[in-house]
Amino acid sequence: MTDTAAVILAAGKSTRMRTSVPKVLHTIAGRPMIAHVLDIVRPLAPARTVVVVGPDMEAVAAEVAPVETALQAAQRGTADAVQAARAALEGFAGTVLVLFGDSPLIRTETIEHMLAARQGAEVPAVVVLGFRPADTEPYGRLLQTPDGDLERIVETRDASAEERAVGLCNSGVMAIDGAVLFDLLDAIGTDNAQGEYYLTDIVAVARGKGLRCAVVEADAAELVGINSRAELAAAESAMQERLRTRAMAEGTTLRDPATVWLSADTVLGRDVTVGQNVVFGPGVTVGEGAVIEAFCHIEGAEIASGARVGPFARVRPGTRLAAGARIGNFVEVKNAELGDGAKVNHLSYVGDASVGPHANVGAGTITCNYDGVEKHRTEIGAGAFIGSNTALVAPVSVGSGAIVGAGSTITKDVDDDELTVTRAEQRHNPGGAARLRERKAKRKSAG
Ligand code: UD1
Ligand code: MG
Repeated sequence: MTDTAAVILAAGKSTRMRTSVPKVLHTIAGRPMIAHVLDIVRPLAPARTVVVVGPDMEAVAAEVAPVETALQAAQRGTADAVQAARAALEGFAGTVLVLFGDSPLIRTETIEHMLAARQGAEVPAVVVLGFRPADTEPYGRLLQTPDGDLERIVETRDASAEERAVGLCNSGVMAIDGAVLFDLLDAIGTDNAQGEYYLTDIVAVARGKGLRCAVVEADAAELVGINSRAELAAAESAMQERLRTRAMAEGTTLRDPATVWLSADTVLGRDVTVGQNVVFGPGVTVGEGAVIEAFCHIEGAEIASGARVGPFARVRPGTRLAAGARIGNFVEVKNAELGDGAKVNHLSYVGDASVGPHANVGAGTITCNYDGVEKHRTEIGAGAFIGSNTALVAPVSVGSGAIVGAGSTITKDVDDDELTVTRAEQRHNPGGAARLRERKAKRKSAG
């Protein structure tokens, strides 16, 4: 919307989080809170988007780039934070949407609904998104006139007992007429319990100038703010619930939804089945009909149609499984491609490797990719067979169709269709076991 600009406040000190990391970089569904807020705003296509950050928040600026940031030099309150965006909004007279970086569960549609209240006759200068949370304590209360207009916002610390009893709260999201925004902000003082410039005072200031203010109510589940670790955990669980519901609606079977943890960017194709207790870290795509068995941990991986993973597999970043590839129990794969129908079924580590189509990697095979200084690659050709308990000391390659005997330590390249085995020869000593036992028994009885 070319007549909308978005200002996202993220400069707060996050005292209640007890953290040395900026609050808005704490993650929900594997994604920083501030990235969620930008995701919510992006579909609105605002003419300008500005994130207000505090000093020493280069990490936040890096996270939001190329979105512009404005610096709030000292954390003097939410109204002062919006003031920091003044230069970035120079000459903008449309609707300024203010959002908080610590409220990442809002839906874009809810904001669109709210923006609609700034159209038509008798347009309010300020529209505030309100909600009715179960616990009103952390929020400002929205006090209304008898005809339902917004009269004033009062923070809990500054509220009378009667005002505290009001259930309608401030979500922090506001849509303000850009033509008057900064005049209104300039009139805000610090006469409150915290001695801060409260953005919430904009309502009383606007009404004092004869401007209308309105409330649009929305679902409490979307509007919770995150100020503590407990609230972070509650928001995470709400987001997980939402992601699971969406995955199932799009055709994924979750055998026990409550035990599956998804990232905001997890892509699960149609007819994917996910077993119990599976964690999807960031960057995972799973193709149609693939099966992820119980107790897997997967991140940064592309899993093609019809592949099978687990149970108990660890799939790390850079893994690509082609159609029908199979990773079994207690297998760790990192930065490796498995071709069509390739199998690594039991107790293996495959890292910095490529495994050709239909190759079979036996139980206990280890790619020794790290020499203590550098990482090296292992190449396994199409249809190769790696016997159980083989160590492949990288850099090394095994040609297509080659067979490596069980228990081998492979340090030199193996050609196509070659048969290789490196274990020591097996010798036999008939009756030797009995003689050994006899000798030991005699020694023991002799003391
Ligand atoms: C604020 C609102 C409260 C509302 C609640 C919703 C005010 C005074 N209070 O309270 O009415 O119910 O959010 O979650 O607005 N920030 C800055 N600079 C500052 C201070 C804050 O950028 O100087 C940012 C924070 O990073 C945060 C947001 O503004 O993203 C809100 O600040 P926070 O301290 O969390 O305010 P609340 O006490 O939650
Ligand atoms: Mg807050």
